[in-house]
Amino acid sequence: MLLFTRLYTCTLLAILASTALAGIQSPNARGNSARANAVKSLFASSYADYKRYCFGHDQLNPLTKTCADPLGGWGATIVDVQSTAKIMGLNDIYNECVAQSLRVDYTKTSQDQISIFETTIRHVGGLLSSYELGGKTNQKLVDQAVVVADRLLHGWVGNNALPYNGLRNWNTNPTPVTDQGAIIAETGTLILEFDRLSKYSNNATFRNFAAKAMRATINASPLPFPGLNPQGIDPATNKPRGDYVTWGGGSDSYFEYLIKASYLNGNPYSYMPAWVRAVNSSIAHLMTTAGGNTTRKDLLYLADYSASSGGLIPRSSHLECFHGGNWMLGGKLLGNDDIFQYGLRLTDACINTYTSSASGIGPESFVYASQSGSTNGVKIRSPDFYRQHGFDYDSKYYVLRPEVLESVFYAYRLTGDKKWQDLAWAAFKNIRNHCKAPAALAALSDVTQATPPQIDDSESFLYAELLKYLYLIFADPSTIDLGEWVFNTEAHPFRLDRPGVTFPQLNPGSRLAKPGSPVSPTSSAKPSTASATKSVPLPKFSSNPDAGKVVQGILKEVFGGVGQLLVQG
Ligand SMILES: *[C@@H]1O[C@H](CO)[C@@H](O)[C@H](O)[C@H]1NC(C)=O
Ligand SMILES: *[C@@H]1O[C@H](CO)[C@@H](O)[C@H](O)[C@H]1NC(C)=O
Ligand SMILES: *[C@@H]1O[C@H](CO)[C@@H](O)[C@H](O)[C@H]1NC(C)=O
Repeated sequence: MLLFTRLYTCTLLAILASTALAGIQSPNARGNSARANAVKSLFASSYADYKRYCFGHDQLNPLTKTCADPLGGWGATIVDVQSTAKIMGLNDIYNECVAQSLRVDYTKTSQDQISIFETTIRHVGGLLSSYELGGKTNQKLVDQAVVVADRLLHGWVGNNALPYNGLRNWNTNPTPVTDQGAIIAETGTLILEFDRLSKYSNNATFRNFAAKAMRATINASPLPFPGLNPQGIDPATNKPRGDYVTWGGGSDSYFEYLIKASYLNGNPYSYMPAWVRAVNSSIAHLMTTAGGNTTRKDLLYLADYSASSGGLIPRSSHLECFHGGNWMLGGKLLGNDDIFQYGLRLTDACINTYTSSASGIGPESFVYASQSGSTNGVKIRSPDFYRQHGFDYDSKYYVLRPEVLESVFYAYRLTGDKKWQDLAWAAFKNIRNHCKAPAALAALSDVTQATPPQIDDSESFLYAELLKYLYLIFADPSTIDLGEWVFNTEAHPFRLDRPGVTFPQLNPGSRLAKPGSPVSPTSSAKPSTASATKSVPLPKFSSNPDAGKVVQGILKEVFGGVGQLLVQG
């Protein structure tokens, strides 16, 4: 009887534990080992090329087989390879990259400026994720992350809550570049990494700095809409700078981390309410279906917004396309199907830029007309194409970015609908076909061509993000289960403090704003459907002082040469 009771209790506990852990993924999701192996094999061969020509450098230039060090010269690819290699079971690669990371002298760089953001998401995030995935045995990985983060703390001047992003004099006495203010993707994309660093180094300082930056970003005022910060923010005053609102580059990962940081700690009261405010305001004020002369009025977008420039600016980008996956994740955690369904539709509109392109790959940025038919200064250059596809090209580059397939990964794991796997497989084959270069994979200059020309550029996020998300779409769904892990914005996974936790405290639908109440422009602004492409402001980008030539080229083409740039957001 006692034995029976024990067995019964154990079974009951096991059932409870498994329901808790069943978490948010769809039970219908299935692996496809042939496809997973194809992704793994492209990862391994690309890495072999990197190793042969550029081992230890930040990145390989895939056409000339030369090397580039735009990110400190500490081996951005080395650190970005590790979590993916470990997840794929490529232990030799994992081990040799870990060994190399431990040899790096993070106190020295030949670079003039170091970006806190880029360094945090790759090096601090990558080293700590690698530590976790390796079984938390190699404390030297944590020690290296501490060396990096100790210096990054110099971005905070005096008692400022917010850091400046760029650091000069790294080798001797890091000093922040203070003349450009900061942007929210920089101040709001440190909390996951610094939180884990505090946990594993047993030193709360890092978490405290990141948390006060997060809090000050959330509390910045006045805001155009509740929860929707403009991109710019001033560390000297904690006030917003400018009025440009976007879910795209420069803002993106702040919104991304609001829900993810709550999820990592299992704390619904930390940052999740601010995420709900941002999403709620986005539904009310940014959300629009494609309008004007198109047959694709089903496509759902989040426009940019600037009151001083006429309100809604119907423009989106590859970087912004993380939003679908992020809304699906948040919608699941909150038990809110409206947010979840919006996330799916945002992802539909993003993958549409892939399936509509001659190369089968989506562009760097694109435009459309909003529901009212207004283009407000963006230019639809090909009305015929727009009529058929519901977007038009803005910048036609593809720089091996992951965000569209990242959202497809969430769509597949959370719905189990095989169509997402098939869309990802088509994208993978096109990427393999068009990007396969003399060494590893190359960026493309024009996705509208059936055979796009290649560019001599290959960012480290190819390894951390693009090939990881593709692999996970086809791997057994228990591999990095979304009920147990959360990804930093460079796709390095961290294990949740409370696996299986959800925050079902939002009544489905009832308390959310209704979509699409069009925002009337302020009187000072002149909305227009004119083709004055340069008349609307352009998003600012995170400052990575030595970013690659391709990104420079994109900025020049799309933005007429904005001085600040973004490699990853
Ligand atoms: C924690 O880290 C901070 C910042 O690097 C450092 O100043 C402090 O001495 C550390 N505290 C301990 C107990 O190691
Ligand atoms: C739609 O077509 C009309 C007539 O052809 C044209 O005047 C208008 O500018 C077009 N609108 C858009 C958004 O392309
Ligand atoms: C969403 O915004 C509306 C106002 O547009 C407000 O009435 C509602 O309470 C908000 N809901 C949440 C969950 O914040």
